[in-house]
Amino acid sequence: MKSIYFTLCFLFLIGIRDTVVVAFSTGLRFDSGVLYEYEYSTSVVVAPISVDFKEATVFTMLAVIHIHSLWRDSEQEQLLHLQIRDIKLIPNSSDSTSKPLVLRDMANGAEHFMEPFLVHINSGKIKGVFDVSPDNTVSLNFKKGLASLLQIQVQSGTILEDDITGQCRVSYHTAGNEIIKVKHHENCEKRMADGMMFANQFLRVSSGGRSETVFTMDGNHIKSVISEELQSLVLNEHPTVGIHISSRQVLQLLSTHSGPSEAQKALQDVLSSLRAGYVNHTVQAIPAARPPATNRYSGRKILDHLKAKGMHAQSPTVNMFLQLSKSLQNLEMAEILNIFKKAHANFVPVLIDAAAAASTPASLEALVSFLNITNAKTSPLLEKFLYACAFSSQPSTHLINIITHILTHTSGQWKTHELALIVLGTVIRKMCSADICHLQEVDQAKRFIVKGLSASTEEREIKSYLLALKSARLPETVPVLLQYIDRSKSLSSIVFSALQDFPPQYITKEVKEHARDIFTQRKKAFPAPVRLDAAQLLLMYDPLDIDVREIILKIAEEKPEVSKFLTTKIMSMLQSDSPARNVIRNVLKDPKINNYFHLARLGCSSSYAGLMAENKNMVASYDFEFLFSESGVLKQSNSQFYAQTRGRSLHLLQVSLETSGLDSLFGTEATKGAEEEELMAGMSAMFLGVQIQPVVFFQGYVDLMSKYFSAGEGPMNIISGNILVLDHRQSLILQSGLQAQGVFHGGLSVDVSADLEFSLFTQESKSSVNNKFSLVVSARAEVDAALMSTTAETVVKMDPSVRFVTTVSFYNTPVQYCLQLIKEPLLYRERVSTQVNFQNRRKLQQSKQKWIFSGEEAAFHRDNSKMCRNLLNSI
Ligand SMILES: *[C@@H]1O[C@H](CO)[C@@H](O)[C@H](O)[C@H]1NC(C)=O
Ligand SMILES: *[C@@H]1O[C@H](CO)[C@@H](O)[C@H](O)[C@H]1NC(C)=O
Ligand SMILES: *[C@@H]1O[C@H](CO)[C@@H](O)[C@H](O)[C@H]1NC(C)=O
Repeated sequence: MKSIYFTLCFLFLIGIRDTVVVAFSTGLRFDSGVLYEYEYSTSVVVAPISVDFKEATVFTMLAVIHIHSLWRDSEQEQLLHLQIRDIKLIPNSSDSTSKPLVLRDMANGAEHFMEPFLVHINSGKIKGVFDVSPDNTVSLNFKKGLASLLQIQVQSGTILEDDITGQCRVSYHTAGNEIIKVKHHENCEKRMADGMMFANQFLRVSSGGRSETVFTMDGNHIKSVISEELQSLVLNEHPTVGIHISSRQVLQLLSTHSGPSEAQKALQDVLSSLRAGYVNHTVQAIPAARPPATNRYSGRKILDHLKAKGMHAQSPTVNMFLQLSKSLQNLEMAEILNIFKKAHANFVPVLIDAAAAASTPASLEALVSFLNITNAKTSPLLEKFLYACAFSSQPSTHLINIITHILTHTSGQWKTHELALIVLGTVIRKMCSADICHLQEVDQAKRFIVKGLSASTEEREIKSYLLALKSARLPETVPVLLQYIDRSKSLSSIVFSALQDFPPQYITKEVKEHARDIFTQRKKAFPAPVRLDAAQLLLMYDPLDIDVREIILKIAEEKPEVSKFLTTKIMSMLQSDSPARNVIRNVLKDPKINNYFHLARLGCSSSYAGLMAENKNMVASYDFEFLFSESGVLKQSNSQFYAQTRGRSLHLLQVSLETSGLDSLFGTEATKGAEEEELMAGMSAMFLGVQIQPVVFFQGYVDLMSKYFSAGEGPMNIISGNILVLDHRQSLILQSGLQAQGVFHGGLSVDVSADLEFSLFTQESKSSVNNKFSLVVSARAEVDAALMSTTAETVVKMDPSVRFVTTVSFYNTPVQYCLQLIKEPLLYRERVSTQVNFQNRRKLQQSKQKWIFSGEEAAFHRDNSKMCRNLLNSI
C-alpha cells in the first residue's frame, strides 16, 4: 500500500516538477540568529547471522548537538556550525545496570569529538566537512556520519550522491512532510581497498547492505531524522555463516534558542576569520587503519603451545593450522626457522602447511632453509611443501623462485622433480588468473616448462612436462600440446585432458582436425581410449553437424564396447543442458542416422551424468565414464564431481583409473589373440582444480604379484595436508561513520588415500578412494567505537568423510560393475558468540550447537543402482 502511495506521489511530482522545484528549492534551511538543539543517538548491533538481533549485543552513543548557520549565499548554499555536547556511551540501551560513560571524562582522543566542525551545503548536497582535528579518523568519521543526516533532496527521484560510504545511487520519495531516502549498497561504487580477498580462494564472501532514512520536516526545518541500516557479510557457499550489523541513527529537534547571526561576508572571508586550522574534507569516510592483529604470539609462545599440545598427545587439527598460519604471518624468518627446528616431529607437517599458507617471504625462506632440498631423506616433507604451494591462494613470484630453486636441485629425484614441475604449472595458472601473468618470473617459468618439454626424449620426462603444461593452462601452449597428441596412448590422454580444461575458443579448427584424424584413424591406428577422447572433444566443444554425424555413423562399425560408450555418451549429452544438445538433436532428426544410433546396445561401457545434491545455495553434480575392453575388463574410468554456487562452478574432484593388460589375467575366451599389453594399473586425480601427481598401483606382472602377495600394505596416501580455503578481511563503514571490521577464515584438512584390490579367485577388482576432510570456517566482525567495542563470531566445524568405491566383477559376462559414493555420518558443530568490551570489562555470551547427519549412499544412475544390487548381493 505504502509503495503505491509513493508511486502516485512520484508520478504527481514528475508531472508538476517545474513548480515543485521552485516551491521547495531550498529544501533544508537553518535560519540566521537561531541555535537549534538536537538530540542525537546512534546504536549498533553486531550479530552472527543465525542469531536473533534482539538477543545480540547493543551499544548506543548519545549526544546533544547544537547547530547554527554561519553564512549563506542564496537560498541554495549555506555554511553550518555544529557542536557535539555531552557525548555518552551506553553499553546496552535496555540494560539499566550499566552506567553511561561520559566520553569527555575519558582521556585519549575524546576531546576531538567536542571540537566544533563546519558543514558546507549547496543545493542539499554536502560539499565539505571542515574539522580541526587532523589525525583522528574516528572522531572525523563520526562527524561525517552526523553531517550526512543533513543531506536531503525534496524532489522524488534517483540520483548519484556522495555520502559517508562512498558514491551511491540513492532514491528519494517525498510524501507530505516526510522525505524518505533509500540506498542499496550494491548501487555504490566499489572501493577495492575495503575488501581483501585473493583471486584463487576456494570459498567466497559477499557483502550487501541497505539503508533507509526518514526525514520529518517542519517546512524547511528538520524536526527529526531516523536512519536505519542493515549490512551483512556472508559466506557464499554456506550462508548461515556470516555476520550482520544493524545500526540506527536518530536526530531529534529538542528546542530552538536565539543564537549568533550569519556573517555578511564572502565564504572564504568567513572561513579565514574563524580559528585557523579548519581542513575541508569530503563527506566520504576515511577507513581507519586496520587495528593490529590481536593474537601476536612470539616464537617462544608458539613452541610452548606446541609442547603442551604434544604432552597431551593431541594431534594437529585444522584449528591449530589456522592459528599457526595467522601467527607465522607476523614472525621473522629466524624465529620461524627456530620453531621448525625445535618443534616435535609430529608437528612439522602442520607447520609446513601453516608456513606455506602464511606465504610471507619470511615463512617461505624459513621453510626452504629448514628442508634440505638436496637431501633425499627429506623429500616426503618437500613434497608436502610443494602441494601446499599448489593450493596456496596467494601465488607470488617468490613462490615461483622457490619452486624453480627446488627444480634445479632435485633432478636426481624424479618423483619430487615431477611434482615440482606440476606445482610450477599450477602456480603459473593461479598467477595468470589473478592477472599477474606479465611478470618476468612468470614468463621465465613458462619458458622453463616449454623448453624442458622440447628437450625431453624419454616418455617419462615428457609426461611430467605435459602435466605441468596441463596445470598451467596457457592458451598459447595449445600448439605445443598438439605436437604430442598422437605420440603414444599415455601422452595422448594427458594432452586430451589438458585440452578439455580450456575455454571453447581455444579448441580451434586445428585442434579439431587432429581429433578427427585420431578418431577416424585416417593416418594410423589408435587405441580405443584415445579415439574416444578425440570423439568427446569433437562432441563437447561447439560440435559441428558433420562431426556428430560422422561419430554416429561410426557407431555401427565399431566393436561393441566402443559403440556402447559412444551411444551412452550421446544419450547423456542429450539429457544435459550442454549447448551440444541441440546440434545432436538436429542430426538425430534424420531417420537414417537415428537408426544407426539405436544399433549398439551390447557392451558394458557407459557414460552418464546427473545431479547428486541440490539446495538453494549449491548444486552438486557428477559425471562418470567407464570403458571396458572387448573381453570385459575395465580399461578406464573417469569420475568427476562439481559444485555450483552463485554462478561459480567448482571442479571438486576428478579421479581417473586406467588399466592395461588385465585381459590376460581375467581373460575369457575372447582374450586369446588380443594384442599383448604391459600389465599396469594407475590413477590420476585432480583435487580442487589442482593436478595430483599420478599414482601407479603396479606395473608389470612381477610387481603385481609381489604386491598381491604382500597384502596388508594398506591404502596408498594420495594427498594429505591443510589448505587455507578462505582468508578475507573487509572493513565496512556504517552510516554513523563507525567502522566494522569483518574477518573470515577457513581451513580444510584433507586426507585422500586410494586402494586397489584384486581377487583372482572371485575375479573381482575393487578400487576405493577415501576422502577424509575437516573444515573449519569462522566469521567475525567487530565494531570499535572509542573505548568500547562489540564483536560477533560464528565458527562452524564439520568432518565430512566420503568413500568412492568401484567394484567390478569379471566372473560373469556381461561384466557387472558398481559405483558407490558413501558418505559417512557427519558431525556438524556451530558456535556463535557476541562480546562487549566496555571499561575493561568483558561481557561474553555464547552458545554451541551440534547436529549429526546420518551417513548415506549417494544415488546415481538407475542402471548403476540395479547392477550394484546384483553385484553386492551376490558377494
Ligand atoms: C541487553 O539488554 C537486554 C534487556 O535487558 C537483555 O535481554 C540482553 O541480553 C542484553 N544484551 C547484552 C549483550 O547484554
Ligand atoms: C571544499 O572542497 C570541495 C571539493 O572537495 C569544494 O567543492 C568546496 O567548495 C570546498 N568548500 C569550500 C568552502 O572551500
Ligand atoms: C643437506 O643434505 C646433504 C646430503 O644429505 C648433506 O651433504 C648436507 O650437509 C646437508 N646440508 C645441510 C645444511 O644440512
